[in-house]
Amino acid sequence: MKLLFTLVGLSIGLAMPHANAIELKPNDKAVVAKGKSVYKSQCAACHGFSLRGQRNWRVRKPDGKLPAPPHDKSGHTWHHSSKVLFDYTKLGPKALIGRDYQTDMPGYKDILSDAEIIAVLSYIKSTWPANIRKRHDAIDKKQNHKH
Ligand code: HEC
Repeated sequence: MKLLFTLVGLSIGLAMPHANAIELKPNDKAVVAKGKSVYKSQCAACHGFSLRGQRNWRVRKPDGKLPAPPHDKSGHTWHHSSKVLFDYTKLGPKALIGRDYQTDMPGYKDILSDAEIIAVLSYIKSTWPANIRKRHDAIDKKQNHKH
């Protein structure tokens, strides 16, 4: 019986980091500054220095792949919860959608730490107008209630 409790305790302990909600810090100046430098070195080449994405981002290119979408309010980044954005950036769309999915977007799990991913997403969120940030807060709240 004791062993069973230990095992249950262990598996809850291991499951915790995944169950935990991802919290972005768009009001934390240090986090945002760090995120901005990560963005410039890792993301801007495709998503643009002013977060506008690539031209005609809704239309697949001749190679069948999608252009990089904008991360500003005109895109759909803010439609996704922080957890979805975190997993997407960490693992990349291939890991989430399927091996055969053709995409230019890499996964960053071997390039950026979790803290750096949270920082870069916090920077992106910090650039959104107040009403979009509020709507994103509401999306996070809804997602976190489900867990
Ligand atoms: C080599 C080009 C490239 C780089 C570098 C890149 N991306 Fe992307 N990204 C893309 C493309 C292309 C898509 C569209 C995905 C698809 O093919 O379906 C995308 C999609 C996304 C999405 C999902 C769409 C959305 O708006 O929710 C997120 C989030 C994202 N990228 C974040 C990042 C972050 C953060 C970085 C830097 C750490 C980054 N990307 C670096 C090309 C890139």
